[in-house]
Amino acid sequence: MPNAYISGTGGYVPPRVVTNDDLVRDYGIDTSDEWIQKRTGIKERRFADAGVGSADLGAEAARIALDDAGLAATDLDMILFATLSPEHHFPGSAVYLQEKLGLCDAGRFIGCMDIRNQCSGFLYALGTAASMVQSGACRHVLVVGGETHSAALDLTTRGRTIATLFGDGAGAVVVSATDEDRGVRYWKMGADGRFADALSQPVWDIRKRPFIPLNEDGVGQVSTEMLWATMDGRKVFRHAVERMCGAVMEACQSTEVFGPDVDLWLFHQANMRINQYVAGQLGIPEDKLVHNIDRYGNTTAATIPLLMAEAARDGRLQRGMKVMCVAFGSGFTWGAALIEW
Ligand SMILES: CC(C)(COP(=O)(O)OP(=O)(O)OC[C@H]1O[C@@H](n2cnc3c(N)ncnc32)[C@H](O)[C@@H]1OP(=O)(O)O)[C@@H](O)C(=O)NCCC(=O)NCCS
Repeated sequence: MPNAYISGTGGYVPPRVVTNDDLVRDYGIDTSDEWIQKRTGIKERRFADAGVGSADLGAEAARIALDDAGLAATDLDMILFATLSPEHHFPGSAVYLQEKLGLCDAGRFIGCMDIRNQCSGFLYALGTAASMVQSGACRHVLVVGGETHSAALDLTTRGRTIATLFGDGAGAVVVSATDEDRGVRYWKMGADGRFADALSQPVWDIRKRPFIPLNEDGVGQVSTEMLWATMDGRKVFRHAVERMCGAVMEACQSTEVFGPDVDLWLFHQANMRINQYVAGQLGIPEDKLVHNIDRYGNTTAATIPLLMAEAARDGRLQRGMKVMCVAFGSGFTWGAALIEW
């Protein structure tokens, strides 16, 4: 059985920086830099311009990851795209990315799959890719986490609890087969569907009749409650801490790689306070954690691959290191993975 290792990483964020002060000044949101920083650690985020979608951001990240791996897009056997903000409700983002990478023109009609597990989406996709590679079904799987949140945020005071948290971006890794003794050593996912409504965007409620109500002029009308995401922030916070700690402890017990043996911790970037709390509970030293929430906000499925790409570029991530990843998000879903780099 081959091992599945990360042969290349790439990250991309759109160029437009939106600071906390910009949310007040340009969008008129009743908030403040102090409020946002104190509760979340976020200083700024990136917003993509109109016309740019998650597959566009993903394509930029994917090209960097492929280049880093020394591969052409035509070497890929599969594309997995983790996102909660796909181009369309269906067919999602992976097929758009395939086309953008030139695979259709090259006659490479490989499998393309979206993974819809929100903030845990990248780890769900990574585990899936590793299994595909280890089974021998694929040699190179492109795994992308990409989000264009800014288009679907209620950027008004009404939506401030959520709108101030999220940003746009994409990260990509190539998961490849190797005979070397390295790669994804462990992954485990979890979910608790009892809390499906605690963080959700119910715009697609297929149980509704009519699905989209029409007014007397025959114009479809979707209420704002349906359109924007809703979140019970305190419940999310509480469960995030509990589940992230649990997932890490289970990973350590299963792999017998314990805290001090881990060289780098990559936590999903939802909230600096959640991460500091989890790190405190587990006794993880500050210098083994990397963050980007201050610069990008919560980029959902993109946070961990963006961290990987940045840490690989700045030398924090070195061959042979043991890297523990952990995420929690809407569903509730969560996951942890241990990678020997
Ligand atoms: C969202 C979060 C920062 C809110 O912090 P909180 O201390 O729980 O704040 P509350 O929601 O109780 O709101 C407290 C007050 O601040 C206000 N408020 C909310 N967002 C605000 C903002 N961006 N700016 C200013 N005030 C804000 C609320 O309206 C409320 O005002 P009120 O007391 O007059 O009603 C916090 O709950 C959190 O971090 N939760 C986890 C969220 C998360 O990580 N989500 C992604 C998971 S993948």
